[in-house]
Amino acid sequence: MHLCGDGRCELMSNKCDGWVHCKDGSDEMNCECTSDQFRCQNKMCKPLIWVCDGVDDCEDTSDEANCDCAAGFFACHKNWCLPITALCDGNADCPNDNEEVNCDKTDVNCTTDTYKCVDGKCIVKPNAECDGVWDCFDLSDELYCDCGNQQTVRSRIVNGNDAVIGEWPWQVSLHFGSIGHTCGATLINNWWLLSASHCFQDVELYKYSDRQSWRVYIGAHSLTFSDSEVESRLIKRLIIHEQFDNVTMDYDIALLELSAPVRYNSYIQPVCLPSPVHIFPANQRCYVTGWGFLQESGPLSIILQKGEVRIINQTTCNNFMENILTPRMLCAGYLTGEVDACEGDSGGPLVCEEPSGKWFLAGIVSWGQGCGRYGHPGVYTRITKFREWMHRNVGIGGNY
Ligand code: ARG
Repeated sequence: MHLCGDGRCELMSNKCDGWVHCKDGSDEMNCECTSDQFRCQNKMCKPLIWVCDGVDDCEDTSDEANCDCAAGFFACHKNWCLPITALCDGNADCPNDNEEVNCDKTDVNCTTDTYKCVDGKCIVKPNAECDGVWDCFDLSDELYCDCGNQQTVRSRIVNGNDAVIGEWPWQVSLHFGSIGHTCGATLINNWWLLSASHCFQDVELYKYSDRQSWRVYIGAHSLTFSDSEVESRLIKRLIIHEQFDNVTMDYDIALLELSAPVRYNSYIQPVCLPSPVHIFPANQRCYVTGWGFLQESGPLSIILQKGEVRIINQTTCNNFMENILTPRMLCAGYLTGEVDACEGDSGGPLVCEEPSGKWFLAGIVSWGQGCGRYGHPGVYTRITKFREWMHRNVGIGGNY
């Protein structure tokens, strides 16, 4: 017999069978799981057939995490699958209670400020995409949300500091010919990167527009690539925005198709793309990352750097910048300078964390006067303006 904590006895055959018999659960603790059992995060063993069946058998949701939900089921916050009928039924069924909110905010008249579901219906909630709450009746706002997840526990860019390994798993390094690291880029799915158009403009000596001269490194932390996780690819297709203007830097965006897709792991993850109506409010703390110059005069950084910058109000920034900003640009940093991107960071990401914990791409490093100078914040390509262009060119992303 097994002696429970409360002094009662249970049959030995009830020990480690996946069902809790003792009040204190001691009959299911310290078990060696058999081959037909699943080992929960809390070290309990449960029958394998209970995995991903919509019931939290482990009582820590680990048996329902990361499940691919079958048709007729939807994924809760931690990818726990529940029947669609549990949506908006008045019961909070998800562990993080998210499926009953905003059940009546759908189907308003569509305007430039509303979020458009795939079925064409509109909702009024700001930043509804991938926020862990089902807002669209067709559930489309929470599709394509395997993105923006930092894999590490969070523990120059000019005046930034070393990134933690796995902290920015969408960061990509673009190497040109024998020069080495030249620009940054951002992973948006298995096949595609976003970068800046200006990285691919020919200069006298170098033909940067030649896609075959580039090599792409994904999953890197140090530019020495001492970490074996690094994946390297060539560029199969390079799409430079047809309206890119190399004087004003307007439309500074490019799409790069990889020669072969990448598999996601702890070091390689795509960022989330904001819908066209996504709001990155002024003063929001975001991060710019890259291997660019640590100071205006160089050199490049060996270790990936991160810098915390604040989103700057467009009008304020434009006043500061003598009205040379276009609606496709976004300022981030500090009007007093200090933390900023620099040469070599171009094409790389400016990302902001949403309350859901997911990171969204707000901008692409584009230009600045010097680096970290007083009165000259960094200027970024505003991603929300390009969802339609991306969709037109490669059909990326459902949330738009
Ligand atoms: N144009 C630069 C590059 O090619 C990036 C400039 C960003 N500068 C700034 N101060 N934020 O790498």
